[in-house]
Amino acid sequence: MEKYFFTYEDIHKTSKDLADRVRASGFDPDVIVAIGSGGFIPARIMRTFLKKPILAVGIAYYDADDKPCELPRKVQWVEEAEKKLSGKRILLVDEVDDSRTTIEYCVRELLRHHPAEIAVTVLHNKLKAKKGAIPAEVKRYFAGRDIEDRWVCYPWDALDIDEHLASAGLALVGKK
Ligand code: G4P
Ligand code: MG
Repeated sequence: MEKYFFTYEDIHKTSKDLADRVRASGFDPDVIVAIGSGGFIPARIMRTFLKKPILAVGIAYYDADDKPCELPRKVQWVEEAEKKLSGKRILLVDEVDDSRTTIEYCVRELLRHHPAEIAVTVLHNKLKAKKGAIPAEVKRYFAGRDIEDRWVCYPWDALDIDEHLASAGLALVGKK
């Protein structure tokens, strides 16, 4: 099955587009919450346009003995900072909306801290039946691109970035 290959330039443009759409919707976040690790780079690029601080959270699907488990669990969370989320407008950022499980989990965790509002942005939303649901409290959800249910190869996962670029269909001839 064909995969998608996105370049850093693609990611940058999609992140800028998302930041523009967030602003155009009238949402002015107080803080960006990046879901690690895929959300880190898009969150950082969005910060260039939104100029807001970033908090990072991490989720794992394995237990302390490295055995897979059904439900996500926190591996890194905002801890002290999360106590300050009350009344804040949070922009939650991830790279891909696949099953939606992680996003639902993160939104529910953040809602426990009584933010003023949570908006969700993802670079890519796979058009498919989702296991998770975005809680009704979330009124703004932005996907940079809606894509087919295929595997996405992100540049930050590339062991050989030139091969990745070639796969993305960029002509490398004449470039250093
Ligand atoms: P969702 O709520 O965002 O839909 O995430 P879901 O729990 O379904 O995804 C589980 C993991 O699988 C996530 O990574 C997600 O980024 C990754 N994933 C799903 N589809 C793709 C894809 O097409 N390409 C890539 N590269 N990853 C995908 P994670 O466990 O949070 O790890 P990380 O890679 O973000 O650190
Ligand atoms: Mg991810």
